[in-house]
Amino acid sequence: MIATPAILWSRFRRHYLDCPALGLGLDVSRVPFPDDFHAKMERPIRKALADMAALEKGAIANPDEQRMVGHYWLRNAGLAPSKDITKVIEGTLESIGAFATRIHRGDLAGAAGPFRNVLVIGIGGSALGPQFVAKALGHPRSDKLTPYFFDNTDPDGMDQVLALLEGRLGQTLAVVISKSGGTPETRNGMVEARASYERAGLNFAAHAVAITGEGSALHQTAVADGWLQTFPMWDWVGGRTSELSAVGLLPAALQGIDIHGLLAGARACDEATRNPVSRENPAAQLALMWYFLGEGRGSKDMVVLPYKDRLELLSKYLQQLVMESLGKELDLDGKVVHQGLAVYGNKGSTDQHAYVQQLRDGVANFFAVFIEVLKDREGSSIEVEAGATSGDFLSGFFLGTRSALYESGRPSLTLTVPDTSAFTIGVLIALFERAVGLYASLIHINAYHQPGVEAGKKAAAGVLGLQRKIVAHLAAQPGTAYTTEALASALGQPDAAETVFKICTHLAANGRGVRTVSGSGLSATFQAP
Ligand code: PA5
Repeated sequence: MIATPAILWSRFRRHYLDCPALGLGLDVSRVPFPDDFHAKMERPIRKALADMAALEKGAIANPDEQRMVGHYWLRNAGLAPSKDITKVIEGTLESIGAFATRIHRGDLAGAAGPFRNVLVIGIGGSALGPQFVAKALGHPRSDKLTPYFFDNTDPDGMDQVLALLEGRLGQTLAVVISKSGGTPETRNGMVEARASYERAGLNFAAHAVAITGEGSALHQTAVADGWLQTFPMWDWVGGRTSELSAVGLLPAALQGIDIHGLLAGARACDEATRNPVSRENPAAQLALMWYFLGEGRGSKDMVVLPYKDRLELLSKYLQQLVMESLGKELDLDGKVVHQGLAVYGNKGSTDQHAYVQQLRDGVANFFAVFIEVLKDREGSSIEVEAGATSGDFLSGFFLGTRSALYESGRPSLTLTVPDTSAFTIGVLIALFERAVGLYASLIHINAYHQPGVEAGKKAAAGVLGLQRKIVAHLAAQPGTAYTTEALASALGQPDAAETVFKICTHLAANGRGVRTVSGSGLSATFQAP
């Protein structure tokens, strides 16, 4: 039901959550929850806040992996449950600062002079946070090192990045990030980068650092080959909540970003969102609104619409944080629940010329989260027409789209922040981390494991094993052409015909180990080249 402007204004006044310590405002007035919703949810949200308090004290909050969940300690090391953890967090922060200073001063330089670029190699939680923060807080005029990313095992994607760094690898620091140290995409990125440095006559080890778990495969390589330095990752920090560990802080510090501002914002947000009074707690309010809007089972998608180019990667970052955390088959009692909350988005007003048409008039399967940034830019703005700047237009488009959605019955939440400072970005990171944790408690799932990701990794390993068998088999039978089915049977895997077909067509397209002898598509026959 659409409220009249007067009722909407009264809802706004009643439900607007102003958090001056964070510079944050949360408006839930365009979510049509009934008057008794908060009272009904009081017990579950209280339990969620108590679960979170226990988690912060070091309880095993990831029961499947028997791990503590400690990302909140990263911005307030004194809260860690042991002195050793406090010490290791503080020590790492110091070593990040000291390393970045040596790089910026040129005390530690590449073969061609002081480092000017940083090539970050990682994936998932070891890339999305650094990418989001690099875009949100960097600036071509002030970046001390210019950031580049390998976040996939796509060779063409890597070639594009390497082309940008052509002739400049001697002043490029490679930062290889993998908590487990065994993720194939990251290992491949490292191997490809190393080969490029070597082709340029450079010693990769003298241009590389690793961020990884002690003793991992990556750690062993970095130590054995004498890389410049290694920085730790710990089992009590999850990949998607690792932005404020060395994973995010080292690349950001190298870029020249104010990492202490980021940490201060997150710390302040943690303090505000520990508030046991849920009506005053923005993370609790977000979790409750997600619960209401998606009926506690993710029945509506969340469209994240920041009206600010710098926040363009927020939706991608949140997509992983939310969907990898909440997208679970089983609840904490082992019951099949198929939970989740789908997230997508990009930025306004750009998206008004793309999918917002469907949001307003099409299938009503979503709610929007608008992010409004009050400060337009550093310095003043020209008027692009009488009485209006580009920033006024951006603000007008945000308000207009929000009204248009509301008038067609599409709910939305609005987060208002003053600017895109390091402090504010730290606030946003901590706010969504905690909202995800609280929501996970409301729906009774483990937000801190990722069995689906592990399943995908195992399946990929199986495909590569089959590929090796195909190439070996064809090489052992030179001149013999096989149909797909015949080859799958010859390998003793008749049920894997489709995978055999996919592998053969891919290898043939790249001239490696297999060629198409006759036919095409499904009637193709394959043999060794
Ligand atoms: O959030 C997660 O745990 C994952 O997305 C990981 O970050 C991702 O799989 C990369 O793992 P790793 O850092 O071990 O290379």
